[in-house]
Amino acid sequence: MTRRYSRITGTGSYLPPRRVTNNDLVAELALQGVETSDEWIVERTGIRARHFTAPDMGASDLAVPAAQAAMQAAGVQPADIDLIIVATSTPDMVFPSTAAIVQHKLGISGCPVFDVQAVCSGFVYALAVADALIANGTAHRALVIGAEVFSRLLDFKDRTTCVLFGDGAGAVVLEASDTPGILATDLHADGKHVDILCVPGHVSGGQILGDPLLKMDGQAVFKLAVGVLDKAARAVLAKAEMEASSIDWLIPHQANIRIMLSTARKLHLPPEKVVVTVQDHGNTSAASIPLALDHGVRAGQVKLGQTVLLEGVGGGFTWGAVLLKM
Ligand code: UT7
Repeated sequence: MTRRYSRITGTGSYLPPRRVTNNDLVAELALQGVETSDEWIVERTGIRARHFTAPDMGASDLAVPAAQAAMQAAGVQPADIDLIIVATSTPDMVFPSTAAIVQHKLGISGCPVFDVQAVCSGFVYALAVADALIANGTAHRALVIGAEVFSRLLDFKDRTTCVLFGDGAGAVVLEASDTPGILATDLHADGKHVDILCVPGHVSGGQILGDPLLKMDGQAVFKLAVGVLDKAARAVLAKAEMEASSIDWLIPHQANIRIMLSTARKLHLPPEKVVVTVQDHGNTSAASIPLALDHGVRAGQVKLGQTVLLEGVGGGFTWGAVLLKM
């Protein structure tokens, strides 16, 4: 029996219209007595701007246009979709899943839908799960979406975190195929690091208990990220029996240009082989990888037949990689 693979046949993305440059943010924060600068943000992270969602919009409102763009690129209709996975840590509601809301807004019914909550590794996790469900015949054509409104979680009195994140969504159509497609996936987590990146609040008795805003020990996350991203990259290459030299594009989670370039250096990949969008989007958590992938495809960088390494890392602590042929 021939093995069933999965292949990305279309990509899409969506950014909310409100673009906030570093200088816009510096001015807003100054009004609250919080001091930062464009120079600090650019030098330490590479971020120059991010997009923030209007108060009446949620993750599903960003996910739907991203999914529609991916379906258009793949040449498929909503009725052709038989699985929807949304990677998000900022769902519209506690439940049901954002995937269920997206399904309804797209006019689809009947197929399985669920959210994956692996923070900034969410898209890589969701893609690996969709790949497995396609490989075992459960699904034929999946929508895999990363959508986040991280602006809702930001403490605008904490300059060490509020300058880093933004909102957005990216999506792919992943279809069953006789040829790969996805070559290898590698997922990990280590819950002992929960405290270094978390939103500790929760809903109970109609109230939010604990702190509902994002907390991060940036240096601890930085150190862990650099190590685990390298391990995940080597793991997928080993599983696919390929060398790093065969990677055409590295598309890492877009959190910090220094982490991305360090990952590339360890794999002996030149910076020109890294798709970088962090300067325009900031860290959009689970949306960052599909946003960067769609940018790379639409900019004519990432082409059919090329080998791409996607890598995610984030709260949990979670990390993982997907090696694929476009
Ligand atoms: O999405 C999940 C993955 N997340 C990440 O990958 C984030 C990983 N971490 C990072 O990207 C970096 O650690 C940060 C960008 C968060 C911070 O960069 P850093 O080079 O590690 O800076 P730092 O925390 O060591 O802070 C250096 C200085 C401190 O001042 P002192 O103690 O040296 O006087 C901070 O108080 O920079 C100060 N600082 C700021 N100054 C101006 C921190 N935030 C700011 C700010 N503006 N926004």
